[in-house]
Amino acid sequence: TRSLLLIVLGLLSLGASLPSAHSNTSYKVVRIRANSDRDVHVIHYLRHKYHLDPWRDVTRAHQVGDYLVRPQHSDDVLRQLVDSDIHHEVVINDVESFLRSNDAIKNRTRRSATAHEHRHKFLTYDELLDFLHHAQNTATNARVQVGSIGKSFEGRDTPYVKFSLQISRGNDSEKGAIFIDSGIHSREWISPAMAAEMIHRLAFNDENDSAVNSLLDMFTWIIVPLVNPDGYAFTFTPGLENRLWRKSRAAGYSSDPYCYGVDLNRNFGYQWNNNPFHGGSANPCSGTFSGPRSFSEPESRNVRDILLRNKNNIKGYLTLHSFGQFFLYPWGYSSDVEIDDEVDLYHVASAFADAMKRKNYQYQVGGSAKVLYPAAGGSDDYVRGMMGVKYAYTVELPPHESSKYGFLLPESDVMSVVSDTWEGIKAFAFRLYSYT
Ligand code: ARG
Ligand code: ZN
Repeated sequence: TRSLLLIVLGLLSLGASLPSAHSNTSYKVVRIRANSDRDVHVIHYLRHKYHLDPWRDVTRAHQVGDYLVRPQHSDDVLRQLVDSDIHHEVVINDVESFLRSNDAIKNRTRRSATAHEHRHKFLTYDELLDFLHHAQNTATNARVQVGSIGKSFEGRDTPYVKFSLQISRGNDSEKGAIFIDSGIHSREWISPAMAAEMIHRLAFNDENDSAVNSLLDMFTWIIVPLVNPDGYAFTFTPGLENRLWRKSRAAGYSSDPYCYGVDLNRNFGYQWNNNPFHGGSANPCSGTFSGPRSFSEPESRNVRDILLRNKNNIKGYLTLHSFGQFFLYPWGYSSDVEIDDEVDLYHVASAFADAMKRKNYQYQVGGSAKVLYPAAGGSDDYVRGMMGVKYAYTVELPPHESSKYGFLLPESDVMSVVSDTWEGIKAFAFRLYSYT
């Protein structure tokens, strides 16, 4: 029996070293369902062991996650999911060719173009700056003021845009402001594309929509379209992992020279907490590294400081992310705390969700830690908790969480997504005005 056992063991180890039928050299996105707490643990173990990049993570049973798996690990990860009897599905089998066929990364040269030629594209950092300056210089519908809120870690200027009425159409004093930022997470390209659309609509109003002038009458609009310029520029450099970069590009937090960046949406100073239980991390190599302390990063401080300069005017705050189609209100830091005026927050959010429903987009509205997952150090919690702005939201733009595209929404979808989402933004602003 002993020799039989040895033969069996030998066959087993031979089997393990044979190339499997699925042997692969491609990045994959694997959708994994956690049916139990045990599944959540196994998934987190695999995430850690194989450095899986969560496009959306599971935090509790009955959630679904999407994970980017590196080529050298895909066989092992898939085998272990099978062995552990965890429900999963490969949603993108070869991410690089998927991306190529959706032409989201091109060999781009800077377009020297007018604002109109920049429309409905994924703009590079330089193109975005060109667009903003063009909007400032040629705006027909409003007074557009473009400036910088400060430098990034690598020294890039971080633009902001402020809209006020044409001098002839009245004055701005006493008006409330809507503050919108986007591009905190660099791979979420639809987010700055949405900001550019809003800027375009407000500045030019090509469609001659009378609602646009009401929006400008009701509010001063302050938009920071690219909170994380370094990360964003990095996503335009060659390579799939570069395209999928989430954090800033801060260096020096780790002795491992490859571990760059801070998750800027974990770095804001309200209930800051780098414990993984609260969605952050103390590990500089992690995709959700919270930084060594709150506001350790120039990018989050830049946003904080422009917020503080406008503190007394801000009636509503939106921070644009992707993906999933969620319209979220605080609190993000913990799912155990209720927000006291949830009814109001829900009603204003519903204006957006209802308008989007008319355009056939299903949005989920709710408290962010409850609906999505806890994540302490988010900008929305800071704006609400420290600045006392009642209506503070995180928007997770398209695609829907069930889509396979995730962060890799094709450029050909930008036009419809941003045009449709503009209807939601308008409805939100009108509802906010009637509530404030
Ligand atoms: N996807 C966003 C993130 O991970 C959600 C943030 C929601 N807000 C929050 N404070 N947790 O950063
Ligand atoms: Zn994000």
